Amino acid sequence: MTERTTPDDITAAVLASFARSPDERLGTVMRSLTTHLHAFVKDVALTEEEWHAAIRVLTATGHITSGKRQEWILWSDALGVSMLVDALANRAPASGGGPGEDGWPAGAATESTVQGPFYVPGAPRRGYGERIDEMPAGEQLWVHGTVRSLDGRPLPGAELDVWQNGDNELYAVQDPEAPESHLRGRFTAREDGSYGFITVRPTPYPIPHDGPVGHMLSATGRHPWRPAHIHVIVRAPGHQPVTTHVFDRDSKHIDSDAVFAVKPSLLRELTARSADDPERPPGITGRWWSLASDFVLVPASQEG
Ligand SMILES: [Fe+2]
Repeated sequence: MTERTTPDDITAAVLASFARSPDERLGTVMRSLTTHLHAFVKDVALTEEEWHAAIRVLTATGHITSGKRQEWILWSDALGVSMLVDALANRAPASGGGPGEDGWPAGAATESTVQGPFYVPGAPRRGYGERIDEMPAGEQLWVHGTVRSLDGRPLPGAELDVWQNGDNELYAVQDPEAPESHLRGRFTAREDGSYGFITVRPTPYPIPHDGPVGHMLSATGRHPWRPAHIHVIVRAPGHQPVTTHVFDRDSKHIDSDAVFAVKPSLLRELTARSADDPERPPGITGRWWSLASDFVLVPASQEG
């Protein structure tokens, strides 16, 4: 009598089909994918109806994706995969025993987080103390600090590539009313490693939620909001660049970021300042806020 084919036989056949992949890494990835995907299907006892629903979701994801809308990355973000890949690529920050200003652990390298979909290369170069808002976008904010190497030495010439949203929740790239360079800029650290620029308070914003990912979020009782943050990529010669955010620690949704990008070391206090505050930088009038943040880079030769 012929033996009946079991679910495990099916899994074994698929695994065997990848045994001779000419690309060894691809073979490893496909076998692991098969193992975990089949285990998932068995674990939830996926029904035929659910399988059809999943195909519809994937099809809709393809249809809504365009040059300006990347629903696949949104899935990766909303399922925490983007943060996981970033965390694996940028392992635990090395420690170098630096001065540890700003309440940082002494010399801890700045942690990375997701780049997100709104980065546009080639932001305008701006000078120390200049502003990045090119139209009214909210309350004035002075962002300042020092870029250092892991050993605490300042890194003059380091570049800070900055982008953020304003009080209409939009990044310039999303906003047809905004100049292309609005709320974007590249700054160079001075001889002592210091940098500073004027911007506005960033605001929380929802990730695009009118597509399949949004449906998943609402169907599972989740929300699409990200807490207020400023994006920055910090680069310096001889050092590993870091792509990260600084978060307003008092922002709404700080404990439930839709893309899981908040790390405790990236939280910053925004301090309210009066018009006559002696530390008021030139270029600011009236009431303002300040945010201090140092950035610490790992030398290129040193594993993070
Ligand atoms: Fe963002």
